[in-house]
Amino acid sequence: MLSNTLCVILCVGLTPTVQRTQHFASLTLGEVNRASETVTTASGKAVNVARVLDTLGALVCLVQPLGGDSGRYVHKNLPFSQEIVWAEDDAPTRTCCTLLESSPVIGGGVTELVEEASALSEADRERLVACVRGKLSLALTTALALSGSLPPGTAPDFYARLCAASPTPVMLDAQKEPLRLALVERPYLVKPNRQEAIVALHLPADTSALACAQALCEAGAQNALVSEGKAGAILLTAENSAWRILPPKIVARNPIGSGDALMAGVLFSHFVQQATLLESVRFGTACAAANCLTLTSGMVDPETINQLLSQVVLESVQ
Ligand SMILES: Nc1ncnc2c1ncn2[C@@H]1O[C@H](COP(=O)(O)OP(=O)(O)OP(=O)(O)O)[C@@H](O)[C@H]1O
Ligand SMILES: [Mg+2]
Repeated sequence: MLSNTLCVILCVGLTPTVQRTQHFASLTLGEVNRASETVTTASGKAVNVARVLDTLGALVCLVQPLGGDSGRYVHKNLPFSQEIVWAEDDAPTRTCCTLLESSPVIGGGVTELVEEASALSEADRERLVACVRGKLSLALTTALALSGSLPPGTAPDFYARLCAASPTPVMLDAQKEPLRLALVERPYLVKPNRQEAIVALHLPADTSALACAQALCEAGAQNALVSEGKAGAILLTAENSAWRILPPKIVARNPIGSGDALMAGVLFSHFVQQATLLESVRFGTACAAANCLTLTSGMVDPETINQLLSQVVLESVQ
């Protein structure tokens, strides 16, 4: 088994955020709503993946652009290795809000208010790509994790180009054209949710998670993991074996970032601990459920993961 010290997971994301998570007894649009609890953290998909990896004990390096006081907050908030491309115009890193209701009256109990990320200049983007390439050339870099949406103005083949340049296996969680275009470069593992896979590949709206995974592999992914919230996920491997992974039955507090925790758990188990992909997805599913039980996204308690692991069910799909 590889020692932890010889293995760095490189996480890359272009749309980090300051995340304000507020809890309300109930929420009514057009009224004054008072939060009972407010937590502010650094977030964004790559931040969440890196933070969960760090919590699990992996060595991580996070490459991302930041700017303004909010960007400096994100940088200071994260306790692990980061390579920051500071925006040349110092445009502030965005702020997103999650509103949690304990007694939802209309609609769901989780409302997300998402601010668009600032555009990244060409010079900043080039500095970021050069930084990623430099990290990829290091022997310690064992896997590349690419997550999240791209800022306005970024070419949709951004992830495809990083996949093509990577000498190490790539795990990709993206949407729309950036996902579709990257598939041609044969990423090791892709992890969209079912809806994201349907949109990226222009599949019929009722396409099953298994059919989505098959379409992702036909389009180039070596392995595909298609998640479906509390219904779990489908794993389709390079050996053409398909599995349904059923998560523990829990009462979710905040499910946002579960896909990121799933990705981090798979990366840790597969690339650091060298477990099989199937066993790694089992571990990732326990991480995802543990994420659901915390107030903020991309935060897990290792003790909770251990308790949930035996409750994850793997079923072979014919
Ligand atoms: N309510 C829940 N109970 C148990 N497990 C859950 C629940 N919601 C999500 N999960 C776990 O998290 C995994 C990922 O969830 P989901 O499909 O919602 O990801 P996602 O849409 O990519 O999320 P995000 O983009 O916010 O990180 C699921 O496969 C499942 O294992
Ligand atoms: Mg996701």
